[in-house]
Amino acid sequence: MAKHAKNYVDLKEQPIPEGSHLLEVDNLKMYFHTQDGVVHAVDGVSYTLDRGETLGVVGESGSGKSVTHMTIMGLIEMPPGKIEGGDIRYRGRSILEMTEEEMQHVRGNDIAMIFQDPMTSLNPVYKIGRQVGEGLRLHRGYSKQEALKRATELLDLVGIPEPEKRVNEYPHQFSGGMRQRVMIAMALACDPDILIADEPTTALDVTIQAQIIELMQKMQEENGNAIIMITHDLGVVADMADKIMVMYAGRPVEFGTAEEIFYDPRHPYTWGLIRSIPDHGMDEKKELTPIAGNPPSLVNLPTGCPFAPRCPYAVDICHEKLPQHITTETGHYSACHFADDPAFLKFAPENSRTRADLAVRKAAGQGASSEKKEA
Ligand SMILES: Nc1ncnc2c1ncn2[C@@H]1O[C@H](COP(=O)(O)OP(=O)(O)OP(=O)(O)O)[C@@H](O)[C@H]1O
Ligand code: SF4
Ligand SMILES: [Mg+2]
Repeated sequence: MAKHAKNYVDLKEQPIPEGSHLLEVDNLKMYFHTQDGVVHAVDGVSYTLDRGETLGVVGESGSGKSVTHMTIMGLIEMPPGKIEGGDIRYRGRSILEMTEEEMQHVRGNDIAMIFQDPMTSLNPVYKIGRQVGEGLRLHRGYSKQEALKRATELLDLVGIPEPEKRVNEYPHQFSGGMRQRVMIAMALACDPDILIADEPTTALDVTIQAQIIELMQKMQEENGNAIIMITHDLGVVADMADKIMVMYAGRPVEFGTAEEIFYDPRHPYTWGLIRSIPDHGMDEKKELTPIAGNPPSLVNLPTGCPFAPRCPYAVDICHEKLPQHITTETGHYSACHFADDPAFLKFAPENSRTRADLAVRKAAGQGASSEKKEA
């Protein structure tokens, strides 16, 4: 392995301090200050992630999923963006306190992101091989030849045919699906500790989607890295996520293990998302229930619960008071005034994975757990 080009402390190689997590996002707030007003794009996001875990981040368009993770990557232009509070810690170190030089090393080497739009993320004037190998040259001190050789291997790994030829081509010579694969190869190049995949499969057909997810999971099994999977579809992360954060209007409205989110959801917005998941076993004539209405503007958020205008259960207090997180002892939280009211929780959907099923599993000691996985 080639040695580092620069003399950085390689955080990826450092042990995670006792009591810390691989990634901790702690009440993060990042607003855009625009001519039209202050956009509350990230408003109190909190979660923890450990090695080997997959976090699913779910919510409708404009809920702040991408901007939250661009903030973690240090990729938001400031201004107009501004950190208004909170912290992001990677292996115990505050990302917000890092110099731009340190951050450049973290970005790509330690935390890599597959961006939502592969067209805008690839540089049209450089060959694919150069772009895929760039991180290895920058962070690992690879020579041009070494980087090109590894880039060719990576293209092969993500299922691009004739990688020796394709490595010398330009982005416009690749189809949308192939560009998405190039983005994945770029993100995997430096074996990142955390892979953030922002809707990596939306542009792809179902078979390729499955292959891409399988590829990320295989890499995770081999390297023990963490994955953050961003999607608007709760169904996509149902099988792969250990933890799920549901976002609404820049806020996390519910966070818990996948078991907790599917078997014991405690926020009406999550209930709506669960009801919108197509059930493969269901009667084809049965209609899915999408959530009626639209999310609020992030400039003029309503007083009270941001979901109140669309919530079928809203009562007076919902329009008057912003709900704070109600957290269980396992760390499962919901930003609904009634999240700990058993009578209210009876309105939760009876998904194919039923609440009764949860009770049985809990009794058998297999219920929601917040245990860390070994890397
Ligand atoms: N540079 C910017 N200036 C002002 N507002 C912005 C800027 N970038 C993003 N926003 C706003 O931040 C909010 C969150 O956007 P974000 O892209 O994170 O949503 P998302 O959940 O990723 O949605 P999608 O599912 O469509 O990708 C949106 O209201 C968006 O308009
Ligand atoms: S606080 Fe009220 S409006 Fe908000 S989700 Fe709960 S019940 Fe619905
Ligand atoms: Mg997005």
